[in-house]
Amino acid sequence: MTQRRTFLRKSAAALAGGVLFPALRLPGESAWLQTRPADHAPEEDFWNWIHQAFTVSPNIINLNNGGVSPQPKVVQEALEAYNRLSNEGPTYYMWRILDKGREPLREKLAEQAGVSPEEIAINRNASESLETLIFGLDLAPGDEVVVNRYDYPNMLNAWKQRALRDKIQLVYAETDLLDTDDARLAEAYISKFTRRTRVVHITHVINWNGQVLPVRRIADAARARGIRVLVDGAHAFAHLRHSLRELGCDYWGTSLHKWLCAPIGSGMMYIQKDRIPEVWPLLAPPEPRSGDIRKFEALGTRSFPIEQAIGHALNFHQIIGDERKERRLRFLKNYWVEKVKDLPGIRFYSPLDEKHSGAIATVGFEGVDAEKLDAFLMEKYKVHVVTIKYEAINGIRVTPHVYTRPADLDRLVTGLRDFAANRH
Ligand SMILES: Cc1ncc(COP(=O)(O)O)c(C=O)c1O
Repeated sequence: MTQRRTFLRKSAAALAGGVLFPALRLPGESAWLQTRPADHAPEEDFWNWIHQAFTVSPNIINLNNGGVSPQPKVVQEALEAYNRLSNEGPTYYMWRILDKGREPLREKLAEQAGVSPEEIAINRNASESLETLIFGLDLAPGDEVVVNRYDYPNMLNAWKQRALRDKIQLVYAETDLLDTDDARLAEAYISKFTRRTRVVHITHVINWNGQVLPVRRIADAARARGIRVLVDGAHAFAHLRHSLRELGCDYWGTSLHKWLCAPIGSGMMYIQKDRIPEVWPLLAPPEPRSGDIRKFEALGTRSFPIEQAIGHALNFHQIIGDERKERRLRFLKNYWVEKVKDLPGIRFYSPLDEKHSGAIATVGFEGVDAEKLDAFLMEKYKVHVVTIKYEAINGIRVTPHVYTRPADLDRLVTGLRDFAANRH
């Protein structure tokens, strides 16, 4: 109680002094957020403040944060301010002023990812990162690449294009979406390795259902055989606590507009330092074989405001903290799942254990077209989700984020109960 009173006094003082919500400053940058203990997931007062840091609609419950996430107000304001500044004199303010922020940003991103800044390139999304890697590797006809049919379509399309153009062979690891046995999941990849395997492509968190794959286990086996490891981290970064060193990969890419809540159209790529010379950039710099990671940033004119606002999203994320955020996201997933798991006819397409799932879960009802359920939730309850119909999946994917309130999930639960009872 005493702590709480002190906190309230401090918050009031901060508000009165106008320092809690100054322009371009994150509410969380004030001291009180940092003083909250990290070990109580359902501290609703803390999370209500996080909710208030966003500008999400009070009328629609957005539970498709897996597609793209909203930005907290502080990120939106930074983006707008940098954009206005750029328009005061684009070539001066963008190229001479804002661009000076790129190296400090690289350092911050590298620190978050647990690697060196000399291994991080900043770009526009996971597709750009991963396709740069896929098209940038020297591969000969007959070389084999191990992929999985549950990898993201953009990446599979890129590999298929290479197969058509360069006559490489794609070999498919066969995993089960509900499998929680790491040895078996890893073996699905390892059993496909041959003398001709050059690369294994691993999606850390599967987009269709949120399944977490044992990347390190597969990576260790691959690297012991001289096989390069490429990881799709689009759904893992800033969601599940890990460092890229721990993953044991050679190459990696992510979007920052998903779990980090950075501006839409921001991403990053990692290449282990000694592997940089072997990857060709997609957009040619003066020295394509150089070992300088910046050779991947010859992207032409792009939005420096977007790039620079990433730093504010990173601050916001770090103030919540990796551990507390991961715990909260899992808590939110479990919150709604627990309440509906025994409904008649309900079917989960996601593993739900702690090691193989985070915030994402995909659910449907036996014999029901998931699009019908999706439309029902929106029309009657104003709950927005996404239909996933892929391979054997016929469900809706539900993805809360840090701003999602249990009350929002209650609306989802009511909707699912109503649907189960009446099968509209
Ligand atoms: C696993 C995975 N990889 C890559 C991507 C591509 O992300 P982006 O469209 O931001 O490039 C996505 C997007 O949802 C994804 O889920």
